[in-house]
Amino acid sequence: MLERIPKVVVVGGTYVDMAIKCRQIPPPGRSVSGSALSYTTTGPGPNQAMEAALCGCEVYLISKVGGDTFAQMAKETLAEFNVNIDFVYSAEAKNTGVIVTLVNSAGENASCVYTGANSALRSQEINAAEQVISEADVCLVHGRLPHKAIVRAIRCAKLHNTKIILNPARPIEQPNQTSGELPIEYFSVDILIPNLYEAADITDQSDAGIRTAKLIGSDLVARGVNCAVITMGKRGCMVVDRSSADHIPAFEVELVDQTCRGDAFAGALAAYCAVKDDVREAVKFASAAGALACTKFGSTEALPTKAEIIELLQKEEMG
Ligand SMILES: Nc1ncnc2c1ncn2[C@@H]1O[C@H](COP(=O)(O)OP(=O)(O)OP(=O)(O)O)[C@@H](O)[C@H]1O
Ligand SMILES: [Mg+2]
Repeated sequence: MLERIPKVVVVGGTYVDMAIKCRQIPPPGRSVSGSALSYTTTGPGPNQAMEAALCGCEVYLISKVGGDTFAQMAKETLAEFNVNIDFVYSAEAKNTGVIVTLVNSAGENASCVYTGANSALRSQEINAAEQVISEADVCLVHGRLPHKAIVRAIRCAKLHNTKIILNPARPIEQPNQTSGELPIEYFSVDILIPNLYEAADITDQSDAGIRTAKLIGSDLVARGVNCAVITMGKRGCMVVDRSSADHIPAFEVELVDQTCRGDAFAGALAAYCAVKDDVREAVKFASAAGALACTKFGSTEALPTKAEIIELLQKEEMG
């Protein structure tokens, strides 16, 4: 019998990252010469979608690009990774989201994020994808998008019994918004995956420490979230639901570049949840993906495949 291919819909922002290496990041009014330039398709939308595709899922991305040449580049990269782009909309009069990053010789960086077309994703455009959301096993949504579109995606997934995972972030265009004003739908999701700082922010906790993670997780569950997965970098994750709170340690790896770790984690978590209903096992799988993403330089190039994730999990079991 043929195994059914798990289906994941990702709703998230698309960006082109232009990174320039320079000796030092210049202060205002000064120029420095760059030594290397790279530009790649990135952003939570493409990265998380590509990771789920690398884990063997059929993946649709709902996102918005501009009417520029970067849009074409983003679509081509997505297609190379077998991500369906039928719902990657184009706002012809806008630019594709761009991140300009300067990296100095110590590896530190400074970036400017231009959201561009991402801030024009509308709820009607989520509605147009209702069919694929209804047929999907998991809908994974990233929080740096207009609230209306996010709320629409959550409602649509819930209506059709599609598992909904939300990876929150503070929207750049509303930096002064306190998390207390987050739409109630954010707390109706099956799995909420904030990092520790985002989680503390949402729950108005001033102390974002590993010891308070359990408390913060319980608070999120009390607010209605079915399961809170609080990620804490190399300190692992705290998984809290109504039955228990469990710490899942991170894998020990040699750190090369942390870019994309959160997206690798989220994409792999969605892929696992699309197959099996076991959040703790899903978090182990996702943790392996997050750890592996730290072992390679770059963003898309650093996303691990399902085989690499399984290899790390097996190594850990044997060791
Ligand atoms: N240095 C590391 N070593 C091992 N595992 C890591 C490391 N950093 C991250 N991970 C794994 O990836 C998961 C997600 O990482 P993290 O909590 O840093 O996400 P994030 O802050 O959302 O990242 P991003 O800024 O990329 O969105 C962690 O819970 C952990 O399992
Ligand atoms: Mg993150």
